[in-house]
Amino acid sequence: MSLSGKRILLIIGGGIAAYKALDLIRRLRERGASVRVVMTAAAQEFITTLTAGALSADHVFTELFDRNDEHDVGHIRLSREADLLVVAPATADLMAKLANGHANDLASTVLLATDKPVLMAPAMNPRMWAHAATRRNRATLGKDGIAFIGPGRGEMAESHEAGEGRMAEPLEIVAAVEALLDAGPKPLAGRKIIVTSGPTHEPIDPVRYIANRSSGKQGHAIAAALARLGADVRLVSGPVSIADPAGVTTIHVERAREMRDAVEQLLPADAAVFVAAVADWRSENSAGEKIKKVAGEGPPVLRMVENPDILAGVGHHSQRPGLVVGFAAETQDLLRNAEAKLRKKGADFIVANDVSHESGIGPSGVMGGDRNRVRIVSRAGVDEWPEMTKDEVATRLAALIAERLKTTVV
Ligand code: CTP
Repeated sequence: MSLSGKRILLIIGGGIAAYKALDLIRRLRERGASVRVVMTAAAQEFITTLTAGALSADHVFTELFDRNDEHDVGHIRLSREADLLVVAPATADLMAKLANGHANDLASTVLLATDKPVLMAPAMNPRMWAHAATRRNRATLGKDGIAFIGPGRGEMAESHEAGEGRMAEPLEIVAAVEALLDAGPKPLAGRKIIVTSGPTHEPIDPVRYIANRSSGKQGHAIAAALARLGADVRLVSGPVSIADPAGVTTIHVERAREMRDAVEQLLPADAAVFVAAVADWRSENSAGEKIKKVAGEGPPVLRMVENPDILAGVGHHSQRPGLVVGFAAETQDLLRNAEAKLRKKGADFIVANDVSHESGIGPSGVMGGDRNRVRIVSRAGVDEWPEMTKDEVATRLAALIAERLKTTVV
């Protein structure tokens, strides 16, 4: 278990995302960590100490001074008896307090008094996150050495709100905890690995673009899984709404050609994994100005030209990494197509997604969903993996890459 024996002090702030902190307790404990919980007064408006206590199997701490409470251990001991402090959700108020050194309740006092690493998972309304005061506090806390995970973009719990401010998912927070505590075996230490993820956006004019439904979930999960095994991961990501994975250097790009340039600049590397759903075509001339409707002229005709194949470029590159992995989304003739791609693109493995309806997951299910069923096609044959979550696929693929790199002479 990756967090065996690790002691986490989880500070739950007051926000709708507090319910996700409950799942986080479960996920941390599943990995062997012990979790002690501090809740702010506001947090108790959203979830109860009873639930947090049941899930953590420990007393939940809420008061700064509670001499009558037999469990009162004091704020210094709470920090001393932890390896890492996690604030989830980290509200604008908790961030402001710590950035300015306030200590007027148990949560803020523990945060100010600790000498242990602190990880914050912010969650708030997008306008609060964008406010100059919060930006300032975020920057100050970063300089003070506080680690952050998220927030991501997306639908907020409140209806009709979308934007940046959504708390990272519990598993993303767990990955950040593992990275900070440097937990688990590190068979990929010293290895540089490039991963591409997400869709690309190909502009038609300054406001319109061609895109696809890739969420980046599988690619980001693979980047995080490789980083957990100690790799120096460079993730080249198209536009996605999920958070940058912890412990990974993320380079953001929009178009296929930018993705190719970013990837080529990162060479040499020990391995490269191409998960991105790169647009095969782009509009030949993207207009400098917004294309206007002109009466009587009808719709514009878009001429498409082919984008560079990034995987094939790297697969046949003079600085080709020792291990090159591609993905293929297939609805028919999965194996024949994957084998052809293996040769054409110069890859060692093709991870073939069965996106046919017979797979039971379906194209719209795999793209954007949380589950995947893959086959690993290599020159040695085909390995069929059962249906599992994208995180599980990522963990297993990272282990396979570690295994393969072990036998590569460097
Ligand atoms: N790829 C790439 N650059 C492109 C297109 C694809 O790097 N311009 C990579 C993808 O990241 C993925 C693999 O190549 O690893 C997928 O190849 P592709 O030929 O696009 O496969 P499918 O999407 O399955 O397409 P098709 O069946 O249309 O050939």
